[in-house]
Amino acid sequence: MCSGGKPSLELVMCLHVTAAIYCSLGQYNEAIPVLEHSIEIPVIKEGQEHALAKFAGYMQLGDTFAMLGQLENSIRCYTTGLEVQMQVLGEADPRVGETCRYLAEAHVQALQFDEAKRLCQKALDIHKENGLPASLEEAADRRLMGLICEIKGDHEAALEHLVLASMAMVANGQEAEVASVDCSIGDTYLSLSRYDEAVFAYQKALTVYKTSKGENHPAVGSVFVRLADLYNRTGKIRESKSYCENALRIYEKPIPGIPHEEIASGLTDVSAIYESMNELEQALKLLQKALDIYNDAPGQQNTIAGIEAQMGVMYYMLGNYTESYNSFKNAILKLRASGEKKSAFFGIALNQMGLACVQLYAINEAVELFEEAKSILEQEYGPYHPDTLGAYSNLAATYDAIGRWDDAIKILEHVVGMREEKLGTANPDVDDEKRRLAELLKEAGRVRNTRGRSLEDLLDTNARPVNNGGIEIVQ
Ligand SMILES: *[C@@H]1O[C@H](CO)[C@@H](O)[C@H](O)[C@H]1NC(C)=O
Ligand SMILES: *[C@@H]1O[C@H](CO)[C@@H](O)[C@H](O)[C@H]1NC(C)=O
Repeated sequence: MCSGGKPSLELVMCLHVTAAIYCSLGQYNEAIPVLEHSIEIPVIKEGQEHALAKFAGYMQLGDTFAMLGQLENSIRCYTTGLEVQMQVLGEADPRVGETCRYLAEAHVQALQFDEAKRLCQKALDIHKENGLPASLEEAADRRLMGLICEIKGDHEAALEHLVLASMAMVANGQEAEVASVDCSIGDTYLSLSRYDEAVFAYQKALTVYKTSKGENHPAVGSVFVRLADLYNRTGKIRESKSYCENALRIYEKPIPGIPHEEIASGLTDVSAIYESMNELEQALKLLQKALDIYNDAPGQQNTIAGIEAQMGVMYYMLGNYTESYNSFKNAILKLRASGEKKSAFFGIALNQMGLACVQLYAINEAVELFEEAKSILEQEYGPYHPDTLGAYSNLAATYDAIGRWDDAIKILEHVVGMREEKLGTANPDVDDEKRRLAELLKEAGRVRNTRGRSLEDLLDTNARPVNNGGIEIVQ
């Protein structure tokens, strides 16, 4: 497609366009070698244009990895891109600030909030230095910073950044866009249990969205979801349900031209509220609808896996273990395929799938799953985390069930030791483990026959919502 004599920036440009076409056709894997090639061509010491072409290649490659759900690869590319850009433009250029914020967003997606905060602060410093006071760039930085602080639990700082962002946006004539910041402000008030102020912020956003986007726009739905969450939290279940229904009216008959993901994520949000009201059938129905909408979309594999794992938990809670097993299996297949470093979320999903296997008497498969869960959770959370300890207990119980008593005892001794060390001996959890261990030791000394005892007595069956790897910025 691209011709030309000696390697030149024109060729680079051509490769970028070729890659973009592959991406628009959904052929991300084809785009990657093209972009990798494009990055090799420019020679930084040839000057600014070369360096910026290299920078552009890295950023496009990062976007392509992101579409494949490979966040680590994507962050690696953006980071190198940023370094190249800084080399040529200097550390204080506003464009470098933009890239810092972009990279910060990617870190938020990868749940790396400390790094996200550092980069976002850098963007903010650059933009404060360069721009006019209360510029739109600064507002965008503060908006992201507000979200990061909120996620990190620093609600007061979040509020300050968000309020400053909203003032800057109003000053720059962006009244319509300010509604989404008002939503975030409401979320922060909600976290601070300042409910009246939260309602006020949400109502303000609702009014703006209704006039600027229309009564049936999903943005309006997203405010209904927030109000539903708020009223559920304050125990006003009737109001909460009524807002859920208002939101569903919008999501179930979407107006044309709305991106599918927006509808699917709205359905997921409403589902979470029904789930917290313990209306699991309704919650499952909505998640199934969201899955049907995503329809295996590329770039959404991690989100889809998160939904499937969530469905697995709910099916488990409803006692439908076959369906629970199937949901986890689908989720885990997708997470394995993404080729990413295995996250804690992955470990938790494996552990839960193991529990479903136990219910289905597939003990050998359960052992494999618990073993893998244990090693991932050890790595991600360390040996003292409750989730890791849960996986240890489950593994011990299944070893016990298949007659590997020595292995079971070894693990339980380890768990008891660690729980005592961390939690103190007075903790009921420790007593529980000790009792299990004593039982096992007693039994190991006896005729080895486990059939009399139910495996379930031993399992750590805390089925609870798993938090998917996706961003939970929108509550
Ligand atoms: C909704 O209300 C239920 C029952 O009062 C409560 O258990 C649940 O935690 C609430 N959900 C949220 C998201 O706060
Ligand atoms: C489990 O759920 C599936 C899907 O909703 C359903 O078809 C099946 O009948 C359920 N099985 C049991 C035992 O409830």
